[in-house]
Amino acid sequence: MHHGPRRRSVLLAGTAGLATAAGLTSTAAAAPARTTPVAPPPPALIPRPRTLEMTGGRPFEITAHTAVAVRHRAPEARRTAEYLATWLRRATGHAVPVVAFGTAPHAITLAGDDETPSAEGYRLDVTHGGVLLRATEPAGLFHATQTLRQLLPAAAESATPQASPWTIAPLHIEDAPRFPWRGAMLDVARHFFTAEEVKRYVDILAMYKINRLHLHLSDSQGWRLEIKSWPRLATYGGSTEVGGGTGGYFTQREYADIVRHAAERHIMVIPEIDMPAHVNAAKASYAELACDGVAPPLYTGETGIPVSLCIDKDITYRFIGDVLGELADLTPGPYLHIGGDEALATPPEDYRTFIGRVRQTVHGLGKQMIGWEEVGLAEIASGTVVQFWADAKKAQGALAQGAELVLSPSKKAYFDMKYDADTPYGHDWAGYTDVQDGYTWDPATYIPGVGEDQVLGAESALWTERVKTFDEVQYMTLPRLPGLAEIGWSPVDGRTWEEYRVRLATHAPRWSGLGWQYHRSVEVPWGDPVTR
Ligand code: ACM
Repeated sequence: MHHGPRRRSVLLAGTAGLATAAGLTSTAAAAPARTTPVAPPPPALIPRPRTLEMTGGRPFEITAHTAVAVRHRAPEARRTAEYLATWLRRATGHAVPVVAFGTAPHAITLAGDDETPSAEGYRLDVTHGGVLLRATEPAGLFHATQTLRQLLPAAAESATPQASPWTIAPLHIEDAPRFPWRGAMLDVARHFFTAEEVKRYVDILAMYKINRLHLHLSDSQGWRLEIKSWPRLATYGGSTEVGGGTGGYFTQREYADIVRHAAERHIMVIPEIDMPAHVNAAKASYAELACDGVAPPLYTGETGIPVSLCIDKDITYRFIGDVLGELADLTPGPYLHIGGDEALATPPEDYRTFIGRVRQTVHGLGKQMIGWEEVGLAEIASGTVVQFWADAKKAQGALAQGAELVLSPSKKAYFDMKYDADTPYGHDWAGYTDVQDGYTWDPATYIPGVGEDQVLGAESALWTERVKTFDEVQYMTLPRLPGLAEIGWSPVDGRTWEEYRVRLATHAPRWSGLGWQYHRSVEVPWGDPVTR
């Protein structure tokens, strides 16, 4: 991050008219040396923006007169403006109306940006007279609002009005992600989490510019999505979970609500139906899915059991066509994740046959297939997204067929791994992953022979065999998720663990303000008192 010398004007050529209308230049120029300006410290943004310049002068302050203004061709920009205004109202207690562009003298303006076309990038200018968020695409505007959020004091996260100076020091940010895929996987199968809880998880992701929510919707211990053509999958297959609790499932309406909530935050839902293994809940629900026609009992144990769909039965593929068909209709994103991992009870030749048929089904539905790294053992189409978790050879086999990789190394990005020996939840089979461990790796160099241009990005995975409650989900996610987010978004240059850990520590009061649970790792110099 470059912290340049104090500058009055941060405006780039060609946008001065818009900036003037947004109140930027005039007041920047009218900020004389009434006070002796001392450059404030750079804000502790996560993920770290590509460039940030403190430009000096008097701060911007949100007051009773501040409005949010929109000038962007996309209708979603208006929605993002409403989202920002709603958020600002809660803690500031100010009216913060959303107004037409050019009608408010003191505004936070969301505008288009023809100069730097980018799917998710944005520019952000703060001067005494106003704030200007510019992005080509609505996703960039949304990310800009999350940066703005982190520029305000932590008290801004409060749900009730706070007495705080709502000031932001003048600055100029230009930002865009390094990787297009920054994901988080949540296993709702081993333990079920409600749609409301999943939406709260999405809110955590949004703050850190994560743009994919991968839902692991089925496993041996539970089926978690209503399928209208095979209703017992949810009503019976979803009726329990690890440990024998009551489980649960999302109705299609609830699933659609999660998709909508995520889309409002520019997060794409990636649904996974795991096959041909991890299917005991499905076979328990429908005896005809078993080769011998006998339904196994529901399974509530923690460890994986050897189980496979019946590769030779026609009904297997009718089942898959029906399930993926309903899922495709409910899912606006282009991807269906078919799992494919740990098919220990499926002979290799059967596995290849099976993946080949499922691939055709997915493509027939107009979707792109995603699978865990094992699908690299089968024939896959070029452009298939393959999710690496442990075995470089399988990932390399997928790459040789033209796959693109998402990296979820179990030693780095499995949030069900304990932080250390004292962590009360989770596993340690891939080793402890404390905050530094989770932060210090690079998707572009992690797998030998795999370079940056073959990598779509990074994704965390939170398996929940030993994570029972949503408080525990948060505890395992924070503070590791911001590190994963930064790895996916920020350039490597200039980043160090020593600097990051200090920045990370300043986020704890935000999480506390939001009621989010987190692990107070000994590796992070938390300065705040414990307020949980
Ligand atoms: C996995 O951990 N079985 C993908």
